[in-house]
Amino acid sequence: MTDKTLPGAARPPLGMDVPAHVAIIMDGNGRWAAARGLPRFEGHRRGVEALRRTVRAAIDLGVSWLTVYSFSSENWARPADEVGGLMSLLRLFIRNDLADLHANNVRVRVIGDRAGLPPDIAPLIVEAEETTRANTGLTLMVAFNYGGRQEIVAVARALAAEAAAGRLDPQAIDERMFAARLWTQDAPDPDLVIRTSGEERLSNFLPWQAAYSEFVFTPILWPDFDGHALKQALDAFARRERRFGGVGALAKKTGS
Ligand code: IPE
Ligand code: IPE
Ligand code: MG
Repeated sequence: MTDKTLPGAARPPLGMDVPAHVAIIMDGNGRWAAARGLPRFEGHRRGVEALRRTVRAAIDLGVSWLTVYSFSSENWARPADEVGGLMSLLRLFIRNDLADLHANNVRVRVIGDRAGLPPDIAPLIVEAEETTRANTGLTLMVAFNYGGRQEIVAVARALAAEAAAGRLDPQAIDERMFAARLWTQDAPDPDLVIRTSGEERLSNFLPWQAAYSEFVFTPILWPDFDGHALKQALDAFARRERRFGGVGALAKKTGS
């Protein structure tokens, strides 16, 4: 992102700096339902429809990676029937949407702790990933039973075991080696993290990967999110100046 913060400099047309990787904390389903006197499950069900719209819009807008937070490691704290409903929605999403995603050249990945899920879900996830593995369009990463701290601890444990077994020199551990062992593996870090529903926190979502992400918080409740809202977030991103610890474009230009 170059001179566009200079006073008087023309901004490039919005949408020019499309983030390669957008990550979304899809929040507000419960409040959406409560506002309508509906059960929370109805909010989650409508949330899946918002996800469909958002995937389509991300493809149209030229986003390469889309990561969505669907179920956190901490969401087990919810009532059993709500947890069960969220598990069923993942099953339904894979059963109903896999063919369509595949037809749209979407590569599906699911990140999170699979071992902790009902036993019928892991094979569905494998099916979704295997079916779409060779696709070259959008990569859709669904964070399901995902917790960022748990992810980091798992990597630390694996590296420690290798070091203790004498197969790894601790001095060889660097950021690249660590990142390659996270569930996100080869994915680029998210350029933009969006959270809906007005909450402004990470809630254990991608803490390592979002170290230098831009954030957009919107009051829109997730079931109301759509392509227009995504475009607005991308436009806000395009106006940001990312510095990565360096100096801004203005300082570079004026030497001050
Ligand atoms: C997000 O909506 C979906 C999940 C966390 C699974 P919420 O269910 O958190 O909705 P609110 O925050 O209660 O409105
Ligand atoms: C984060 O939302 C998890 C997902 C969106 C899946 P929560 O609604 O669970 O987060 P908190 O509890 O408000 O931080
Ligand atoms: Mg919430």
